[in-house]
Amino acid sequence: MITDIVIGLQHGDEGKGKVTHHLLKSGQYTHCVRFNGGNNAGHTIIHNGKKFVTHSIPAGVFFGVKSVIGNGCVIDPAKLEEEIKYLESHGINVRDNLKIAKNAHIITTLHKAQDGKDERIGTTRTGNGPAYRDKYARVGARAADIPELYPFLIDIYEELSGDSTILMEGAQGFWLDPDWGDYPYVTSSHTGTAAAIQNGINPRSIRNVWGIIKAYETYVGKRPFQPEEKVFERIQKVGQEFGATTGRVRQCNWLNSREIRQAIDMNGVNRLVVNKMDVLRELDAWGTTEGRIHGEEHFRRHIEDQFSPRLGIEKIYFSDNPRTIGEENRLTDAA
Ligand code: IMP
Ligand code: MG
Repeated sequence: MITDIVIGLQHGDEGKGKVTHHLLKSGQYTHCVRFNGGNNAGHTIIHNGKKFVTHSIPAGVFFGVKSVIGNGCVIDPAKLEEEIKYLESHGINVRDNLKIAKNAHIITTLHKAQDGKDERIGTTRTGNGPAYRDKYARVGARAADIPELYPFLIDIYEELSGDSTILMEGAQGFWLDPDWGDYPYVTSSHTGTAAAIQNGINPRSIRNVWGIIKAYETYVGKRPFQPEEKVFERIQKVGQEFGATTGRVRQCNWLNSREIRQAIDMNGVNRLVVNKMDVLRELDAWGTTEGRIHGEEHFRRHIEDQFSPRLGIEKIYFSDNPRTIGEENRLTDAA
């Protein structure tokens, strides 16, 4: 078993879906595993020039790679069926590649009704929190209890152990973790490397931990996050910062260096991807929560100084496009 992990180091929507999709192009992976959350997630993926938004189904299906919804996830069977149909209607073969851990938990109609009344956290209202509540209260239903899911069920340990090369696709971000985020403004599943391991992974099999950030911060939910400055409205607009799942506006702020350092450290990140460089480049507005930064070169140097190599980062990828982790539109090169 060889394991690579992709996680978000901010508050979700860092571009994990794109990075996962990009890494799968190498053809080296036997499995792609979603390890936390449910259809509260929305991963935007450009595949063969076409835009897809996935919620529960791992990006492996785009490449005929076995795609596992792990035991750390919660599943809404009706929404899953919808997502399978949506992808299959665009020619993606889901049914032959999708696998579901039999011990993953189920989101019920009642969970959705309860979450639908949330005014306090600003949840995605997909039933995520109530499903995890019942899991830990030991009264939940599991995938093995749902006949419609039988064709997909597996023992995740049996599936992944042995001669496998696994890409773990995280959902949400480290600062939405119930222990590490700004509680109660958090999601209900753990979001870091530890959560990935809980899905049948031998910790010693971990090769790379890909930490994903955007060049600025975004957050969707009830806590005040965006400072009252015009520049953040411009970032929101140019960056098209609207939720892939709920369509809500994402609040914006500068990069939080302290939080990213801690997230890199606590998750053993050795590869850092900085997405959406193109957005700040278009506005020529750069900064961190510690202050404004003059120009792109200073910003890049700041990222390199702050986040590597003391913290174990071996490589930083700056990305300015929605398809790859490289740069396609950089006009001026660093001296
Ligand atoms: P829940 O996960 O639906 O319970 O929502 C809890 C908090 O996490 C809310 O602030 C949501 O907006 C946020 N959240 C949950 N999933 C995502 C995601 O995939 N991207 C960004 N924010 C998310
Ligand atoms: Mg998203």
